Amino acid sequence: MAESAELILDGKSISLPVIEGTENEKAFDIGKLRDQTGYVTLDSGYKNTGATKSAITFLDGEEGILRYRGYPIEQLAERSNFLEVAYLLIYGSLPTQTELDKFAHQITTHTLVHEDVRKIFDGFPSGAHPMGILSSLICSLTAFYPKSLDPNQSPEETNLNIIRLIAKISTIAAWSYKNSVGHPLNYPRNDLDYCSNFLYMMFAFPTEKYEINPVVVSALNKLLILHADHEQNCSTSTVRLVGSANASLYGSVSAGVNALWGPLHGGANQEVMEMLEAIQQDGGNTQKWVDKAKDKNDSFRLMGFGHRVYKNFDPRAKIIKKAADDVLKALGIDDPLLKIAQELEQAALTDQYFVERKLYPNVDFYSGIIYRAIGIPTEMFTVLFAMGRLPGWIAQWKEMRENKEPIGRPRQIYTGELERDYVGIDQR
Ligand code: CMC
Repeated sequence: MAESAELILDGKSISLPVIEGTENEKAFDIGKLRDQTGYVTLDSGYKNTGATKSAITFLDGEEGILRYRGYPIEQLAERSNFLEVAYLLIYGSLPTQTELDKFAHQITTHTLVHEDVRKIFDGFPSGAHPMGILSSLICSLTAFYPKSLDPNQSPEETNLNIIRLIAKISTIAAWSYKNSVGHPLNYPRNDLDYCSNFLYMMFAFPTEKYEINPVVVSALNKLLILHADHEQNCSTSTVRLVGSANASLYGSVSAGVNALWGPLHGGANQEVMEMLEAIQQDGGNTQKWVDKAKDKNDSFRLMGFGHRVYKNFDPRAKIIKKAADDVLKALGIDDPLLKIAQELEQAALTDQYFVERKLYPNVDFYSGIIYRAIGIPTEMFTVLFAMGRLPGWIAQWKEMRENKEPIGRPRQIYTGELERDYVGIDQR
């Protein structure tokens, strides 16, 4: 491998050191470029820019590989559970039984939120989107735990905030739904595991006994694991960027929730479901919608298709597609939207437009079918994505802080007006 690259600029040669990751990913280090040459690089959408070195997640978009801390996503989805994966991402290795029990116990005993947080819900109009509520309430935790604002807090204090956030996000998420439909809120139950407790808070009514279905618990664990990290995506980069200003964990994650909400990112799972419903209502002609997506005069895109880094099958989509089949069978549900999704996938995968551009179904394409089967309302889909992504955001925020990364502050190429004199309003 070359140890450096040579850049010839204005007749001068500049040597750029080559950096290589453990999976042979290569980069030019341009850290001194501006000082040496006066030039910066321009890379809209950061398509070629490595923003950091990270030891958390490895992703090979050409080969369809995803690993957390070296462990293949397929093995984790099949054999692990969400809290174990959260531990792995945040602390770097798989926990022993004692470590996992302690971690799970700490999280279980922090699921209650301050009663004043409850009052904040009253300020939201009914029908407010739960993602807006989630991001506001995560940020509101800074008010209840002001020590989290201290950039020099001890590692123990940081860890406590990490535990609180993982614990309370499930309560806040479930309450944001209950609040949006005007139902009484359920307090967390310490006798239940993480996923069962969330399902209980989402679906139990004081008037009825709530039975926890192990098929649903296992499906939820799998979905959360599959979403748990995805290296430097839009929301994670947001969390790191905000955190690089020494902003608190709660503030940084709250920003990440907003980034995730966008329909080109995590908000796509809600959009996929709405698209499948629209296709169904339109008579189910999937080819018509594939053609619409290809039409450059139509802004419509096939939601749940395409990915910035996967130019092959998204490995998470493969697992979710199978899980959707299994969950529907186990629950005895025959969802016509699954058939539409399968037809749409088939039509797109055999179409020249999608083949040429390497557009495959992504993680959001089939996840909604499972969420729907287990009773999660469409507006909550992205909230579930946020719950899953939380350990990744935390791990990346913690790594950035521990590595003492500098504040993120990109450059630009200015394309505006040259200097001109101010003109009084009566002369314009
Ligand atoms: N439907 C139709 N055409 C598409 C689609 C799509 N879903 N996605 C990309 N294209 C076309 C696009 O028009 C462009 O064509 P051309 O070269 O002729 O101009 C080409 O494919 C490349 O697209 P791009 O927009 O330059 O690619 P990108 O890497 O900037 O965008 C993306 C990636 C995920 C934003 C995009 O594929 C998209 O909008 N997909 C639909 C939304 C979606 O499913 N998002 C979830 C992503 S996975 C989960 C997550 O990130 O949270």
